[in-house]
Amino acid sequence: MNKPFTIGVLTSGGDAPGMNAAIRAVVRTANTHNADVLGVVDGYEGLLNGEFRRLGARDVSGILQRGGTILQTSRSPRFMEAKGQREAIRRMNEAGMDALVVIGGEGSLKGAYALHQQDVKVVGLPGSIDNDVWGTNISIGTDTAMNTIMDAVDKLRDTASSHRRAFLIETMGRNCGYLAAMAGIVCGAEIVLIPEVPVTVEEVGKVITDAYTRGKTHAIIINAEGSGHNTTELAAALDAMDVGFTTRVTILGHIQRGGSPTAYDRLLASRMGVKAVEALLEGKSGVMTGLRSRGIEYVLLEDVVSHKRQANLEYYEMTKVLAR
Ligand code: F6P
Repeated sequence: MNKPFTIGVLTSGGDAPGMNAAIRAVVRTANTHNADVLGVVDGYEGLLNGEFRRLGARDVSGILQRGGTILQTSRSPRFMEAKGQREAIRRMNEAGMDALVVIGGEGSLKGAYALHQQDVKVVGLPGSIDNDVWGTNISIGTDTAMNTIMDAVDKLRDTASSHRRAFLIETMGRNCGYLAAMAGIVCGAEIVLIPEVPVTVEEVGKVITDAYTRGKTHAIIINAEGSGHNTTELAAALDAMDVGFTTRVTILGHIQRGGSPTAYDRLLASRMGVKAVEALLEGKSGVMTGLRSRGIEYVLLEDVVSHKRQANLEYYEMTKVLAR
């Protein structure tokens, strides 16, 4: 009897809510088509070390609603080297792995593309709270992180209003201001600082002073971690400028990465997981599942890794209008 087609699945880079829903979809779609699945533990590190475990339909029961990733994840500098990739391909061959599904952000998809260039059959799924992956309107995990930020800022606004304070809130997003720009709209911020648009401390001070003068009871400032402004130092500078409000700081940090995925993320991850396996079974490789105008489409990994995704500046501008 022929060996069944065997698909490896791994999660890599920063975890994102919905990764488990994607793993579940990969396993169950593969099983439906009589293909086997090997879960790779610890991302590309596990691929290098040959840490694989067989996943059947029952192994992915009860994970749809769980944040994090049951396969664990890592950032693997070793895999970025040609030597590491060769080792990983050798491990895949030893285990009889015919193809690989990679769930992760920008860096992880670069790894997937490197494997594709070496004739490994691979399909990527965008998984990143930052929404910094080109070729998809949104990545798995972004919606959940956005809702976590919204919930936190709503709470902070209550106390900000009661004390007539400014709150400076730092969101994640190393190179991409998507989360901060969106938060500006859905959380009603006075000003948003993102990596894509340089803003001086003086400009921030002016916006907040104007808000105070217009009679606002609070001010919300959203600072993306990659904006170039250190959040604590910026708060001290605002206090020194006497902007009307006194300033308090909240760094949301890794809270944004955890939690049960929203309905949106469960659906997105499930749709992408199904499509990824279908692609491999049809013989496709070197593509990523992307949410685009006509639904889930296949986007070439070559295009994904050669473009930089930035925050939508239309949202950024909208924040200014809505802050009147
Ligand atoms: O890419 C996701 C992300 O959460 C970024 O927003 C953040 O800069 C980074 O990962 C933090 O990485 P780590 O968890 O390794 O500190």
